[in-house]
Amino acid sequence: MKILAIETSCDETALAILSVKGKKFKIEAHQIASQIALHTQYGGVFPMMAKREHSRNIVPLFLTTLKEAKIFRQVESRKLKVESQIRKLLAREQDMVEPFLTEIAKIKKPKIDRITVTVGPGLEPALWVGINFAKALSVAWNIPLVPVNHMEGHVLSALIKEQIEQVTSGKSGALHKCSLKVESQPLIQLKFPVISLLVSGGHTEIVLVKGIGKYKLVGQTRDDAAGEAFDKVARMLGLPYPGGPEISRLASQSRNQLRIRNEKLGIKELTPNTKNQTPISLPRPMIGTPDFDFSFSGLKTAVLYMLRDLGGVEKITDDTKAEIAREFEDAVVDVLIKKTLAAAKKYKAHTVIVGGGVSANNELTRRMTAKLAEEKIQLLLPTKKLSTDNAVMIGIAGSLGKKVALTSKKLIANGNLAL
Ligand code: KG4
Ligand code: ZN
Repeated sequence: MKILAIETSCDETALAILSVKGKKFKIEAHQIASQIALHTQYGGVFPMMAKREHSRNIVPLFLTTLKEAKIFRQVESRKLKVESQIRKLLAREQDMVEPFLTEIAKIKKPKIDRITVTVGPGLEPALWVGINFAKALSVAWNIPLVPVNHMEGHVLSALIKEQIEQVTSGKSGALHKCSLKVESQPLIQLKFPVISLLVSGGHTEIVLVKGIGKYKLVGQTRDDAAGEAFDKVARMLGLPYPGGPEISRLASQSRNQLRIRNEKLGIKELTPNTKNQTPISLPRPMIGTPDFDFSFSGLKTAVLYMLRDLGGVEKITDDTKAEIAREFEDAVVDVLIKKTLAAAKKYKAHTVIVGGGVSANNELTRRMTAKLAEEKIQLLLPTKKLSTDNAVMIGIAGSLGKKVALTSKKLIANGNLAL
């Protein structure tokens, strides 16, 4: 079975083709057109701008995806029988409709058995682009559609093991090729229950996974998501969007400096005592509460007050900026680890899966790895390229569990879709 997967919930237009033979999976194509360079200029993602970029990028990216999967065949252009139906479906996608009709009319229908597409949660205008594209293809080529929850994709992104990696990255305009080679292999088999920590720009959740498709939300943020806090604090520190990688880079610089300083003082390890040699200290919100909820908005405010007390971000040295980044990262990581471990123990989980963009954070994964090893709990992490938004995870989710294929009428975007 060949699956085309589509993801447009936020600021990445992502397409993938997977082939599934029995229990074996192979990534035939994995493409991402990132809008980050554009959104960086504005310090965040504006839904209508994201929608426009998805509409412009999705058709060319689709052709590249078919080529990468080696299922692209051109034929002489002919008029599509279903053209008027497609025009109706794409009535709200003015940037996409003509390129879609022109290109599809010249392509021989490839062997694709199923189209899986993210229907939520995410930015609704952005989600609709992927959904309408999927519907139009489904009608043009008569292929069934399977709706996928983006968060389920993040949970299941950890099931694929990367083998050979080929990076062809280079930013040429909006298109940013990001390839990942995974030969045919079985997915990692889970022993349930599993606890999943989902940490992204829009979500911070602890999910109890009782089986594929059986999810129960046991905790979540009461205000900002962890990734959102990284992005907002980065902005306060004058760092570009997305803030996670930037904060992480500064924090690791500061950790190295601290290590060197401590070595000089004869202190071997970074213990809390050796860390707190500076007045840079932030709260660990809700770390002591017995629930599995989070709150990051107060932490962000604490950084704001700290900067004000230091005389403003323009007044602080680069070293202090890096120290704030380190302390902020430590605060977030402390809380995430404490709550995840508590949930894993309460539900007697064999495995913890960390998914979502913030799972790319080195300090989080380094410390989570050490902590769970102590507790003899298995940790599964997505390979770096599948930790932020991608379509491979949507393809995996769309092929597992009892997914029902739908006709195009029934597919709608739901920005707040729950797991
Ligand atoms: O899952 P994702 O790609 O998109 C959403 O569904 O939101 O997550 C994006 C988020 C952003 O907030 C970004 O700052 C954060 O993930 N992020 C990181 C790192 N890389 C990405 N946060 C902390 N450390 C990182 N290395
Ligand atoms: Zn995501």
